[in-house]
Amino acid sequence: MRGPEAIINLSHLKTNYDTVKNHLNGKRIMAVVKANGYGHGSIPCSIALENHGCDFFGVFSIEEGIELRNAGLKSDILVFSALDPTTINDAVKNNLILNISDKSHLDALIIFYKRKSKVPRIHIKVDTGMTRLGLEIDEFKEVLQLLIENPEIKCEGIYSHFATADEGDLSYAFEQEKKFKFILNLADQLDYQVNDIHFSNSGAALNIDQSYCNITRVGMLLYGALPSNEIQTSLFVQPVMNFVAPIVSIRSVAKNTYVSYGGVYKTNSKTNIAVIQCGFADGLPRSWFKNGYIYYNGKQYRIAGRICMDQFMVDFGDDIPKIDDKVLIIGRDGNNEIRFETIANSIQTTPYVLSTAIGGRTQRIYHG
Ligand SMILES: Cc1ncc(COP(=O)(O)O)c(C=O)c1O
Repeated sequence: MRGPEAIINLSHLKTNYDTVKNHLNGKRIMAVVKANGYGHGSIPCSIALENHGCDFFGVFSIEEGIELRNAGLKSDILVFSALDPTTINDAVKNNLILNISDKSHLDALIIFYKRKSKVPRIHIKVDTGMTRLGLEIDEFKEVLQLLIENPEIKCEGIYSHFATADEGDLSYAFEQEKKFKFILNLADQLDYQVNDIHFSNSGAALNIDQSYCNITRVGMLLYGALPSNEIQTSLFVQPVMNFVAPIVSIRSVAKNTYVSYGGVYKTNSKTNIAVIQCGFADGLPRSWFKNGYIYYNGKQYRIAGRICMDQFMVDFGDDIPKIDDKVLIIGRDGNNEIRFETIANSIQTTPYVLSTAIGGRTQRIYHG
């Protein structure tokens, strides 16, 4: 099918994994592959990483976890979403680790155990300042007490999530860390031992010491982008995705010709305008048109006018590109690079929003 392609370089994914793992002095990594591997395809990315030595994966929904199991993944899989009691049986069947982030979740497991004499594997999530999912300190004590009274339910891990670890000012992250350490101390005082302690995301992996954790959860860095432009690091990760699309039409237009919706782009001389078959329905952010550009045959050309739902236009000046040739929209071609971070900074969004949006009619093609 003619249309956008996301060419996923699995060798870069594996190199990024090695880079981050070395940076973490060999600490175990939980590769975060939720939201279809941040738009890169969760199954091929997970299988490539598992074959490369990664043995822990983080997904958001139980369905994402089941999809990975059905694809043959053997590693540990943690489901981040709030526990839905109707999915406990599926979690047991598929060896997925669920998330206790509310006392009612543990109550549901106790009831399930009474009926079925089995329980899924669990980690406890504590809230240290994200104010999303997670137990508060008093609730944590209560849950731990209940776990001690119900030893058939064994908690394997305790974790939390940073809200600001990718920012220049880390003072709030350090407050969160203090709270997390306090919670770990409480578990120690109650003599409740767990194997796995994890707190960090990509930002914290770069910014914050985590010697008291044995696992680091890493998403964005594996896909080759920095989580925010406030991060100062010398760590180099390579973009995993090249997002390209074909030229489907080319025409010569006169000076002062309006291009695309709203007529916000007017040619300033006689020029060649090409139509590229990729639009915001495929994940190309509409607002990128203001400063946006593509690469074709090693040269940079401006996006001309507003990106449409299925197509956008490029001003090629005096050059005449070939129909069906592809232009580079995101990624790298030789020395030419358009990073997720560059677009994110230009349109005030984040690489997370951009990469997870890649989809629509995009075909994913895997190399390496
Ligand atoms: C609970 C949790 N852990 C880890 C991550 C990974 O974050 P990052 O992609 O910044 O490494 C996420 C991503 O949003 C998350 O929700």
